[in-house]
Amino acid sequence: MNIIIFYFSATGITETISNYIAAILKKEGNSVKLKNIITPDSRQSQFDFLEFDAYIFGFPVFEGRPPTVAEEWMRTLDGKGQKCSMFFTYGARDLEWAHQVTYYLLTQANFQVVLSAEFIGKHSFNVAKGWCLAEGRPNQLDLDIVKEFALQSIKRFQKNSKFSIDLSEFTYKPKETIKTHKFWANFYPSRGKDDCSMCYLCEKECPVKAFDAISGETNRELCIQCMHCITICPDKVIHIGEVSQLFKKFIDRWGLTEDVVEQKRSKIIF
Ligand SMILES: Cc1cc2nc3c(=O)[nH]c(=O)nc-3n(C[C@H](O)[C@H](O)[C@H](O)COP(=O)(O)O)c2cc1C
Ligand code: SF4
Ligand code: SF4
Repeated sequence: MNIIIFYFSATGITETISNYIAAILKKEGNSVKLKNIITPDSRQSQFDFLEFDAYIFGFPVFEGRPPTVAEEWMRTLDGKGQKCSMFFTYGARDLEWAHQVTYYLLTQANFQVVLSAEFIGKHSFNVAKGWCLAEGRPNQLDLDIVKEFALQSIKRFQKNSKFSIDLSEFTYKPKETIKTHKFWANFYPSRGKDDCSMCYLCEKECPVKAFDAISGETNRELCIQCMHCITICPDKVIHIGEVSQLFKKFIDRWGLTEDVVEQKRSKIIF
């Protein structure tokens, strides 16, 4: 089979899982293409959705849904009735509506969704001092589920397979972007006064063109706080501040003790 994996990955977790899935699919004799849709340019590309036999979509969960830009991108697609599976990575808090929103958008885009899955990955905000959630995930147990997801996807992509999932009991509402939430005000990256080699990667790779390489500041109206600029800066000079007080409030609010997080499992939604 000829399969393409479309994914959005800011701190590398969804990319790691996508690469793992690709390796398994290839081992099973399939041909696989990977496409990260993080940059605005990559989301502008036109795809012929009959070029591949099947599709896999992978997104991180941002505030209980796929990233807003991924939602917007899915609205531009036409799957021409082809089969797809989808998966999510999340930082051990909750997925809320991620499966349902994505199922809705892919179905609207004329894809037939045959499988979904959720995988735990270290939280994007672990790039900040004082934040530490699901560090070390995905672990081998998570990856075993990823493997199972890849193998099940191939089975369900077969022409004679009649499987499909139905998450349709859900009313879709586009996400409201509330930029005034005080709690997250500390989570905007900046280079501060540090010098750097001016490679412009932060500017080129930002999914919403929010980072300005010259000033080293982000436009807070646009920034989706994905932490990609921090992750990719080769000089490691982009930061957010110390957030240990906020982290404590966060884990208390959601009851995320070490034991609770440890017990959280990646799973396939059949
Ligand atoms: C803005 C933002 C919002 C997030 N919201 C959630 C959430 O609602 N629930 C959760 O469990 N993890 C949440 N996370 C953590 C990510 O889903 C998780 O770390 C994911 O694996 C990151 O994938 P990536 O490295 O491919 O970008 C959030 C991360 C960011 C940056
Ligand atoms: S990615 Fe880092 S080194 Fe490159 S321009 Fe941005 S801040 Fe400077
Ligand atoms: S400026 Fe904001 S949206 Fe852009 S890469 Fe950095 S964190 Fe992500």
